[in-house]
Amino acid sequence: MTKSLTILGIETSCDETAAAVVRGRPPGPGEIVSNIVASQIAEHRPYGGVVPEIAARAHVEILDQIVSRALGDANVALADLDAIAVTAGPGLIGGVAVGLSLAKGLALAAGKPLVALNHLEGHALTVRLTHGVAFPYLLLLVSGGHCQLLIAEGVGRFTRMGTTIDDAAGEAFDKTAKLLKLGFPGGPAIERAAAHGNPKRHRFPRPLSDSEGFDFSFSGLKTAVRRTVETAPELTPGKVFDIAASFQAAAVDVLVSRTTKAMEYFARNRPGSHRLVVAGGVAANESLRISLASAAMQSGFDLFVPSPALCTDNAAMIAWAGLERFVAGKIDGLEVAPRARWPLDASRRDIAGAKA
Ligand code: KG4
Ligand code: ZN
Repeated sequence: MTKSLTILGIETSCDETAAAVVRGRPPGPGEIVSNIVASQIAEHRPYGGVVPEIAARAHVEILDQIVSRALGDANVALADLDAIAVTAGPGLIGGVAVGLSLAKGLALAAGKPLVALNHLEGHALTVRLTHGVAFPYLLLLVSGGHCQLLIAEGVGRFTRMGTTIDDAAGEAFDKTAKLLKLGFPGGPAIERAAAHGNPKRHRFPRPLSDSEGFDFSFSGLKTAVRRTVETAPELTPGKVFDIAASFQAAAVDVLVSRTTKAMEYFARNRPGSHRLVVAGGVAANESLRISLASAAMQSGFDLFVPSPALCTDNAAMIAWAGLERFVAGKIDGLEVAPRARWPLDASRRDIAGAKA
């Protein structure tokens, strides 16, 4: 059995500057010894979205303090670490480069191995850190930049079943929140507004939900919301609440209907592995969690969802995925470069057309 390892994780791919120390061994669960997340929301709020230059500068300004705090809170010195894990993409390239440079410097100075991580693998493996979920599992990955159904086969081994053909799920929440002037970030704002609204007030479209394959689409939904907003004589709080609730119901329906179909496919192709995992920022949404729990139960699946704080961006997930890759012998040289784009599945095996 592998000995317990201690890994530092660093995350700077979007608007959170994060560092964490995680301890454990695969398949988990592991221990989060420290977990610091500094959000830049206040810096980006006046612009209604993440501004890449502001993000990169903010990471530069505080990353070394955040790393020191993560090590300090964990009472761990650089010398005690087994490896340093860092997000190398996908994401905003300036921010990724800031984290990667610091991680390389620390690895070089302390003589520790470097593990360069795909941010999406961090989200994908979080349930092993929290629950020790065994491979293979069906994974719904829903974040600000992604909306995918994948089969997690093993560390570094993912098969993509479907993806969005237009907006990511989180992007749809963010754009709708902007239309409704609910502020940034949009997902939590929509969720709060939706709690006061009537989800049946508007019957918005559920694009692609009955089509072949496992792809998603949100642009028709977004257009329908825009039309409703534009034709409303006055956007009273009550109307905003109803539109937010009706949008959230439609978005959740799209995600749940595709995932239900994917569960049928997965159950047939991976008999005995009835595990469904939801990860990424949108997985923090309570209404999505409730609907998926009931869909999973009806399909005979066990649903695993990290706590909301571990669904949105953090470095504990990066430290854990780094730990898993390190144990699998996947370490990186100091020449590794930041990547703005980086699909999780190395080669897409086309099962999108598979009959569900
Ligand atoms: O995973 P994440 O923190 O960052 C990326 O890797 O993109 O996801 C951020 C996305 C944003 O679009 C945000 O609006 C959305 O997740 N989000 C939510 C909720 N919390 C965050 N969407 C719906 N409901 C939420 N409670
Ligand atoms: Zn993320």
